[in-house]
Order: sequence, then structure tokens, then C-alpha cells
Amino acid sequence: MILPNATLGVLGGGQLGRMFTLAAYSMGYRVVVLDPDPHSPAGLIADQHIKADYRDHAALQILGDECAAVTTEFENVPAESMEYLEKFCAVRPNAEALRIAQDRIREKTFVQEHGLATAAFVAIYEDADIVAAIESLNAPLIMKTASLGYDGKGQVQVNTLAEARNAFEQLGNAACVLEEMVELEHEVSVILARSIDGKMSIYPVGENRHVNGILDTTIVPAAIEASVGEAAIDMATRLADSMNYCGILAVEFFCTRQGELLINEIATRPHNSGHYTVDACATSQFEQQVRMMCGLPPGDTLMLSPVVMTNLLGDIWKDGEPQWQHVLNESQAHLHLYGKKNARPGRKMGHINCLAVDVEQALKTTAKIHSALSI
Ligand SMILES: Nc1ncnc2c1ncn2[C@@H]1O[C@H](COP(=O)(O)OP(=O)(O)O)[C@@H](O)[C@H]1O
Ligand SMILES: [Mg+2]
Repeated sequence: MILPNATLGVLGGGQLGRMFTLAAYSMGYRVVVLDPDPHSPAGLIADQHIKADYRDHAALQILGDECAAVTTEFENVPAESMEYLEKFCAVRPNAEALRIAQDRIREKTFVQEHGLATAAFVAIYEDADIVAAIESLNAPLIMKTASLGYDGKGQVQVNTLAEARNAFEQLGNAACVLEEMVELEHEVSVILARSIDGKMSIYPVGENRHVNGILDTTIVPAAIEASVGEAAIDMATRLADSMNYCGILAVEFFCTRQGELLINEIATRPHNSGHYTVDACATSQFEQQVRMMCGLPPGDTLMLSPVVMTNLLGDIWKDGEPQWQHVLNESQAHLHLYGKKNARPGRKMGHINCLAVDVEQALKTTAKIHSALSI
């Protein structure tokens, strides 16, 4: 077990790394962040910020020598860098898990190989694959880059061969998946912690609403049949077991109008749809990340209150700093800001967790805050 006063490392200095750092601090650990961006949200508050490229072996060695364990908050850290780090310290989750999650082709193939369902898809490497895919898939379709996509970026909806060819070109002829669009009843996610010895703690299922491909709201408990929630948890835990995973795993699901439950994608780190756990659960997903990388047992995931999480995107900074008193005047609203300097449209700047006796009340308070902030 790695105990307090030890130094922990995190690859990536975004908001997830910042909230990880805050959780680690309150438990008495030191934190070193590696991120090339001198203004990264986690780098600004860490004990030490190594400003270097994720491929810089000298920097990785400094990180590995200083830390008892290293985790990641950024999906696109090269898996090779994680492998290199494994020479110097514990790396959790490991390079293999990251390698699966950072490539949609590997990810969806892995899911299907383990008997779990995804939307129908075809891997696209070249034009001939597009021609064959159009024959076998039912439109409407969505072309997604296999790697580096996030928040709906790197995705184009297509219906015809000509559109699919255009989309592939528009996405730089990089490897893609061409996937059937499904009719969504709901989107939900399951976040779990799995320890080195395979013990799991699972958070309550959250319902996710997206706007323009970006997560907007997470509602917990989700308004789904208990059997659907149980099936999602069963699929997520089977996946974690089959990866012999150690860390926080987030699994995004599509619940279709036809009643199917499909795995959309996984994240090998805390997830935006788990931010609610910070104010509404006995153990936050970030404390859980610390516990998992330190070889501790998972904390209790008990939900203490119904909750609605809403993201704050850079769009609402268009007339300057938003009027935060509209949030802070609400006794059950918790404001979280990430300390990012430049508020660009679509950029995640912070979020709000609204607690209440039930989801309806939490949604009402959220709506009131949104109209005051003109979201
Ligand atoms: N096959 C699909 N059918 C219906 N909606 C989809 C499909 N793929 C993506 N979407 C919508 O776009 C969102 C973002 O897509 P996703 O594959 O999760 O990429 P990202 O990495 O950007 O989160 C999803 O949460 C969903 O709302
Ligand atoms: Mg997604």
C-alpha cells in the first residue's frame, strides 16, 4: 500500500488532473503533474509541474523516480510512454488498458470479443473499406476518427457513399470507424473502481444528456428501469474483469428505442459524468482514483443525495465573467471552476452539482441557475 506523504504522479494537467490533485492533497499525498501546457489547471496547483512532452523520456524518468505511482487523466498519452514509466514506478491503469481505450477500433473490437454489444461498425483504413461498409451497414451512419476525438470532435454524420468518402477525407484519411446511428432512448454511464486484487465499487448509474456532442447534464439516479441499470452494471463489471483492470473505469452506454443496451465507449480515468460523486457520494471518483493507484481498497460509493450535474462551457463567458452569485446564492448548488484562463466556445470551464430531495427539485434549481446565467 502506498500511504500518505508519498508522492503521486499524473500524466495530464486538465480539470480531471486538478480534481485528482485536490483529492490527493486532502488525503496527505504530494502530487507531480506532467503536462506540456504551462497554464494547465492541475499544473497550477500541483507541488511540482513538469512541463514536457508526453514522449520526453528524460521527463518521464524524473516523474517515475519521484513518484510511488503514476496515473493518467488524459486519454491520449502515448501507451509507449506509460510502458516506459512502468520501468520506474507503479502505473495504474496500465499501458495495455490505455491502448484499448484510446483507439475506437481496438475498443469496440475488444468489447465485442468479450461478448458485449456495440453499435454495428466497420473499421475504415482506406477507400475500399468505405465501399464495403456502405454495403453492410444501414444508414444513417457516423464516421468517427479512431483516435484523438473528444466532445463530438472528429465525427461526421453521413448517409451515402459519397458523403462517407468526403467525411473520411475531411478527417484527414486517418483510421476511422463507420458506425450505425442508433435511435437513442437514453444515454447512461457506469463508473467503477477496481483495485489491484479485483475488488470493485460501482457508482449509481447516471443519465447523460449531450448537446452538440458535448456532455451537458448528468442526472442521478437515472430515470431507467432497474433491470436496465443492472444490465449496464453487469456489462461494465465484466469488461473491467476481462481487462484485469486497476483504476477508475467509465463506460458510456446507448439505450436504444428498440430496448438494446450498447457500449459506446470507455474511459480509463475519472469521467465528466462522474463529477456528481464529488458532492453527492460518500467517496468521490477522484479519491477513488487515489485509492486505486495506491493499492488501497475502493471507498464506499453510497449516494448521499439525488443530484444534477451541469457543465459550464466557455460560451457563457461571452460578456465577461458570469455572475456567480446566481449559483452561490443557492444553498444546494456547488460551483466547481477549473481555473482556465481562456474561455473558448465549447471549452469545459467548470460545472455545477445541484443536490435536492429528488431529481425534479434538482432540475428546477438547475434551470433557475441556467436562466440567470443565460445558458
Ligand atoms: N452511433 C451513434 N448513434 C447515436 N448517437 C451517437 C452515436 N455516436 C455518437 N453519438 C452521440 O454523440 C456523442 C459523442 O459521441 P462519442 O462516440 O461518445 O464521442 P466522444 O469521444 O466525442 O464522447 C454521444 O454521446 C451521442 O450523444
Ligand atoms: Mg463519449
